[in-house]
Amino acid sequence: MMDRRRLAGTDLDMSVISYGPMRAPQSRDDPAVAQHQHALLAAIDRGVNVIHSSYEYGVRWLMTPVLRSHPKRHDLLHVIKAPVPDWDDGGFDPAKLEAIIDDALRELCTDRIALVQWMWRCRPHEEAPRVSLLADIGEAVTACFARLRTAGKVAHMGCFPYFPRSAEAALDMPGNRALIAYYNPIEMEMLPVIRAAAARDQGFMAIRPLYEGVLTSRYSDHAALPADHRLAKPKYAACFDHRARLAALVPEAGQDMTRFAIRFPLLLDSCASVIVGLNSEAQVAEICDHAQGVAPDAATIARVKQLHDDITQAEG
Ligand SMILES: NC(=O)c1ccc[n+]([C@@H]2O[C@H](COP(=O)([O-])OP(=O)(O)OC[C@H]3O[C@@H](n4cnc5c(N)ncnc54)[C@H](OP(=O)(O)O)[C@@H]3O)[C@@H](O)[C@H]2O)c1
Repeated sequence: MMDRRRLAGTDLDMSVISYGPMRAPQSRDDPAVAQHQHALLAAIDRGVNVIHSSYEYGVRWLMTPVLRSHPKRHDLLHVIKAPVPDWDDGGFDPAKLEAIIDDALRELCTDRIALVQWMWRCRPHEEAPRVSLLADIGEAVTACFARLRTAGKVAHMGCFPYFPRSAEAALDMPGNRALIAYYNPIEMEMLPVIRAAAARDQGFMAIRPLYEGVLTSRYSDHAALPADHRLAKPKYAACFDHRARLAALVPEAGQDMTRFAIRFPLLLDSCASVIVGLNSEAQVAEICDHAQGVAPDAATIARVKQLHDDITQAEG
């Protein structure tokens, strides 16, 4: 059975791999529907007990029939995105948050959301207005989550804060239990806040460990990707350069990038689980195998962070 870790400050024992469905088909006519449903089933069979989802992905319709009758349905921990306020909402609306949760409870066939990944959005999408908006709405958000917990709809609240200063500000919210953020060798901006969260007994979940597929053993050369591949876009070229330097620096990354990248967030003691896009049974099997038996390793984190900082500084 898959390794589990406790999300700090909660009673949630999470499989180290969380299933992420963002790239599942939105259309019922897509020939890949059954393949994705089999991937979800395979993940649960392998011991994945954390399911990440969002109404924004438009894919829950595909998950519902798998979850409705699944014998492990009551053991699953659902983590859902809840962006309230959304970009142009202006303020916080507790009724909107509750409606998002009620929809998720129904679509995911569960009685309780284990962890709400709360997000606040505004324009411009920058630190100063975000921190200022949080100061305005924080108390109302906290009160709303307290009510939803009492009603039994939600167990815990976590936060996806986009940027480090916003993340630091969110650590001060009463009731906030977790930081949920992008974290992989190419995206390490949150590392100081992840550590600050741990010092306050708040947990961490890492999103997109493979940098959308760049950090895998499948492709090492951006120029060699098929022209119609989603990673062939010019914006990924610099990420493949970073990948090459990582492979040269860390022997484990050079040997098997997929394995190294999946294990990398788990080198942090406080990382309870890694949210990965899993699109086939074969991906589920490989990723679940790779994630077993990871021990904390501060020295490797430091080397990868140094490379990250060197590249970020050179990019200016
Ligand atoms: N703001 C947010 O809350 C937010 C934002 C983004 C993502 N997410 C969540 O995080 C999840 C993961 O994000 P992501 O898919 O962008 O990033 P990711 O997990 O870093 O990358 C997943 C991609 O890597 C490839 N892959 C998976 N297993 C593989 C294997 N064994 N070997 C080779 N390639 C493999 C797959 O690509 P192919 O299938 O194309 O081969 C897959 O789509 C999403 O599903 C979603 O749940 C949340």
